[in-house]
Amino acid sequence: MRMFVEKSKLEMSKKAAQIIIEEVKRNPSITLGLATGSTPIETYQRLIEDHQQNQTTYKNVKSFNLDEYVGISRQDQNSYYSFMRKHLFNFIDIEEGNTNIPNGMTTDKEEECNRYENFIKQNGGIDLQILGIGQNGHIGFNEPHTSFESRTHIVDLTESTRIANSRYFQSLEDVPKQAITMGIQTIMEAKQILLLISGEKKAQALHELLHGEIREEVPATILRNHPNLTIIADEDAMVVLGKSGVGLG
Ligand code: GLP
Repeated sequence: MRMFVEKSKLEMSKKAAQIIIEEVKRNPSITLGLATGSTPIETYQRLIEDHQQNQTTYKNVKSFNLDEYVGISRQDQNSYYSFMRKHLFNFIDIEEGNTNIPNGMTTDKEEECNRYENFIKQNGGIDLQILGIGQNGHIGFNEPHTSFESRTHIVDLTESTRIANSRYFQSLEDVPKQAITMGIQTIMEAKQILLLISGEKKAQALHELLHGEIREEVPATILRNHPNLTIIADEDAMVVLGKSGVGLG
């Protein structure tokens, strides 16, 4: 594991973008695992700026998003499909056909989960997975107590996650109750993971990730077992640990 602590969310985002751009340049047909949420937005902005200024190309890049809400159409502004277009895909030269997001409007959810999981495998797996983290330590939409062996599956969102994500919706009732998410095993099979953590609200989750017992109650703790994990945190996310309290080499 390597860990960087940056002064601000902006610095965290710059560092993350720098790592992603290096990897894309090293392997122009890389398969990226992408995350939504407020945390990676500025990282995506830096990727766009770099694409415009330095012409880093995504022509041969493939992407798989972590998750999607069930029952929200692609056109809905709260779908993760819309999110990715709004914050990244519309502004870089990635091919629409190379981008993958679970279909939350499927009539056969089980079949969609199997299709997505198999399609990741058929494409040779994920090379670099970008991850955020939920306040309760969830990754993707893998809520506490999800099996570490899980693959792409349907989840019932916890009340706390629905409340946390309700800021994007008109009301809590509008927040979907289910989502399709890559499983924890799916995420762990990525060759490299880049985890972004920003803000005081995530400080406890970061503390658990680094020092808590590895347990399904806090999904992110499993990341400690990943052979190629990079964590980039901002100082606000370090309030529980203390600025130099990481305790890692
Ligand atoms: C959602 C997403 C996660 C994300 C989390 C944190 O639940 N499914 O992938 O990590 O939100 O979001 P934010 O970055 O907005 O705090």
